[in-house]
Amino acid sequence: MSQTPLEGIRACVFDAYGTLFDYASAAARCRDVLGDKFERLTALWREKQLQYTWLRALQARHADFWQVTGDALDFAMETLGIADPALRERLMRLYLSLDAFPEVPDMLRRLKAAGLKTAILSNGSPRMLSAAVENAKIADLLDAVLSVEDVGVYKPHPRVYGLAAEQLGIEPAAISYQSSNAWDAYAASAFGMRVVWCNRYGQRPERLPGKPDREIRSLAELPALVGA
Ligand code: LAC
Repeated sequence: MSQTPLEGIRACVFDAYGTLFDYASAAARCRDVLGDKFERLTALWREKQLQYTWLRALQARHADFWQVTGDALDFAMETLGIADPALRERLMRLYLSLDAFPEVPDMLRRLKAAGLKTAILSNGSPRMLSAAVENAKIADLLDAVLSVEDVGVYKPHPRVYGLAAEQLGIEPAAISYQSSNAWDAYAASAFGMRVVWCNRYGQRPERLPGKPDREIRSLAELPALVGA
């Protein structure tokens, strides 16, 4: 499907987990122990991880994403009847070296070659994000790696999207924000960014404020949409 490019974009900002990095790769690499439970574990872990971010934001009781990710994993493992501290350790360690989606390095290279700024804006803690970026060897393709830890509240609080505009020194309307998490894409749009929803998981549209400007299935489609 060909879509008209967005005009006037100066920076591309990316969500991390599910968008640049494949959170499913942690449990998938533990198939030797998890067997066919690995998909259920991935889904439950992710679902609970996000719920805890939203709930903590509403309660004004922030804890960083490393803690929330561990708490969510404990919940998911207990739900599936898995009591295995070594496996828990292994899964948490793997969360620091998740696979990047295959198109990511080339896509970033094309954006940089076209003179666009690039950044990550994520719930991840600075330590988690720098580990993922290092592991994917994309550090030199990013102008900034921004964590919600700088504002002390999770997405989709508007302060988070404001952090990217502020740190890049670029107004929201000149930023293209990419997320595979529909709720995150809609919130960035409601904030005033241009949004390319990377709908990897074939989700239905959200019934929430905001509206993504473009929809793609893989980030390989992004450069053409931002004039790169
Ligand atoms: C992030 C989560 C929402 O990276 O995927 O912020």
